[in-house]
Amino acid sequence: MSREPLAGSEISQEQIARFRETVWAVYRRHYRPMEWRSDPSPYRVFISEIMLQQTQVARVARKFPPFLERFPGFPELARASFPEVLALWSGLGYNRRARFARDSARIVVEDHGGVLPRDPLVLQTLPGIGPNTAGSVAAFAFNEPVVFIETNIRRVFLEHFFPDREKVPDREILPLVEAALERDRSREWYWALMDYGVLLGRGGKNANRRSAHYAVQTPFEGSDRQIRGALLRLLLKQGEVVAQDAPGYLGHPPERVAPVLEGLVREGVVEQDARGRVVLRS
Ligand code: ADE
Repeated sequence: MSREPLAGSEISQEQIARFRETVWAVYRRHYRPMEWRSDPSPYRVFISEIMLQQTQVARVARKFPPFLERFPGFPELARASFPEVLALWSGLGYNRRARFARDSARIVVEDHGGVLPRDPLVLQTLPGIGPNTAGSVAAFAFNEPVVFIETNIRRVFLEHFFPDREKVPDREILPLVEAALERDRSREWYWALMDYGVLLGRGGKNANRRSAHYAVQTPFEGSDRQIRGALLRLLLKQGEVVAQDAPGYLGHPPERVAPVLEGLVREGVVEQDARGRVVLRS
């Protein structure tokens, strides 16, 4: 085993080897079974990763089975209207992901012959799929040896390799992610890293505070996100609402509701006609 440091860092191959042993040891004890892990077929992985983008595993675990039952594959999801998808998405929050999932399914069916691409760069051409989700999907669905980072992975590397540093940028972490990657077991390796990251996050001290990209998630109650969710639920229930009436229905002042509504129009989630009638776009 070489003691040479990796190019551009102080970390040796030996440290990487020890790190891998630790990660696998934790994995053997703390592997978290999940429905999309026991059958990591591309569609299931794709849907679960979009659901998991900003939502906790426990909540996704409840919403995933009914969603899969109603939309068992890309063709069924591609054919669905947005309100139909939203009806099964609600409760997960960040509802525009429901549109991204449906629109992605249409692109997979129309442009890729119904087969999800395995190249992360091609995956990133799908709506709502950034580098992290593309990496997760490539690793979990296809066992591709991709290099990517997300919040749990970041926590593991900060904890192990940057214990005394503040404001560590991802560009310093990514070469280590690449060096440590178990290239022929990418799927399991990233499951292991994520499980370990979750475990470290429970420990109280959150290493991610030392990321250059750290941001505290703001409280949900009374937030734009909450108003957004309430407005979408209102539209699902009654089909339409006149923009002027929305603040009254939602119990939030017009100056809070107006920008949320504008955002939803801009993103193409809802549309508003000249008379101010707002509906979900199908
Ligand atoms: N297992 C598979 N995908 C995951 C994710 N995005 N977060 C946590 N665990 C996962």
